[in-house]
Amino acid sequence: MVEDLRLDSLEGVGPVTTRKMSDAGIHNIMDLIVRGPVEISEITGMDKDTAAKIVNKARLHLVEGGLLAKDFVSAAEIYKRRQNIGKITTGTNCLDTLFDGGVETQALTEVYGEFGCGKTQFAHTLSVMVQKPKEEGGLDGGVLYIDTENTFRPERIVTIAKAHGMDPDKVLDRIIVARAYNSAHQTLILEESGPVIEENNVKLLVVDSAVGLFRAEYLGRGTLSVRQQKLNHFVHMLVRIAETYDCAALATNQVMASPDVFFGDPTRPVGGNVVAHTSTYRIYFKKSGKKRIARMVDSPHHPEEEVIFALGEAGVIDPEEAEKKTKKTITKATTKKAKEPKVETIIETPEVEKITETPKVETPAETSEVEKVESTVDTESDNLEPLEE
Ligand SMILES: Nc1ncnc2c1ncn2[C@@H]1O[C@H](COP(=O)(O)OP(=O)(O)OP(=O)(O)O)[C@@H](O)[C@H]1O
Ligand SMILES: [Mg+2]
Repeated sequence: MVEDLRLDSLEGVGPVTTRKMSDAGIHNIMDLIVRGPVEISEITGMDKDTAAKIVNKARLHLVEGGLLAKDFVSAAEIYKRRQNIGKITTGTNCLDTLFDGGVETQALTEVYGEFGCGKTQFAHTLSVMVQKPKEEGGLDGGVLYIDTENTFRPERIVTIAKAHGMDPDKVLDRIIVARAYNSAHQTLILEESGPVIEENNVKLLVVDSAVGLFRAEYLGRGTLSVRQQKLNHFVHMLVRIAETYDCAALATNQVMASPDVFFGDPTRPVGGNVVAHTSTYRIYFKKSGKKRIARMVDSPHHPEEEVIFALGEAGVIDPEEAEKKTKKTITKATTKKAKEPKVETIIETPEVEKITETPKVETPAETSEVEKVESTVDTESDNLEPLEE
């Protein structure tokens, strides 16, 4: 760790406080900013004013060191700084257009949509692309992948890396996976993430799914405000980490199929509201047969537009690529029948299916609605992707 980021280099922070903080996962001055005064006072038992003073000192310290932005800056300076924001290519032309170049650092990007719409595939693809050198649209950075649904698949990373001409072993090495078992654990992982982010030059922080565990644990109206409060805390911490450590935060959120209902009825996207108000970018993924539609919903500077993309071996892909693949599969199927089924895919199929089924937390009524949409939409071309449900 950089010497002058040590907690005890701050005036007013003695060894006892340092120990209490480090027990709570606060290891350096950056972490102080991420957690904020209210939490610091709860953890250490110091009064809120003192905690606020310490956090303020920490902030000034980082501003002096050029690690954090000043409070009052000219628009010109902000503009200059925004030029330096890193962008991670999605590996596709269509989504890069939607994101105006790629997924940004210092911001939280939320991808939401119904099950099977490609949120996890997108997270896997970005986890590979962020490792590309800057000239090729990456940030030459590592990944911290918080997996709350047990759907992280190194096999997918390998195929995606190969499809993009990268060494799969090296790519796997730079992805740190943290499996979260409950919402408190998920929060704890994030609280502890500072040193991991620093040591591994993490430029992409994935939380897949950000909301699922909270939704599953806090059921019923009585618990709604507690859930929102805890989720709020989690999501704000994500944003502060993204800003403080200059990395991109990507959170996924599963919601129901019908967007009309989603926007119309505030009780439906439980959790969605909190995430929406904090995310800098919100992208809605929607199934449309074998293709997928991505819509930029709520961005400070992007127009609200839609693009079509697809899912394939290489993760998220341009729709033209998917068409090329279909043609190839058809020709192969008619000419060389023996070579057609790949062993790898056969082994993967039941696994993927099992996973997409188990973590569902919808009520029976919701599920049947989603299934109905699914079956009306997915009838035509079963020959494209063997892994489709
Ligand atoms: N190797 C692959 N080749 C082509 N398509 C694939 C492959 N692996 C997965 N897919 C596609 O990805 C879909 C699943 O997407 P994904 O797991 O990203 O959904 P999700 O949005 O994360 O869903 P959930 O909300 O359940 O987590 C499958 O239905 C399939 O169409
Ligand atoms: Mg998923």
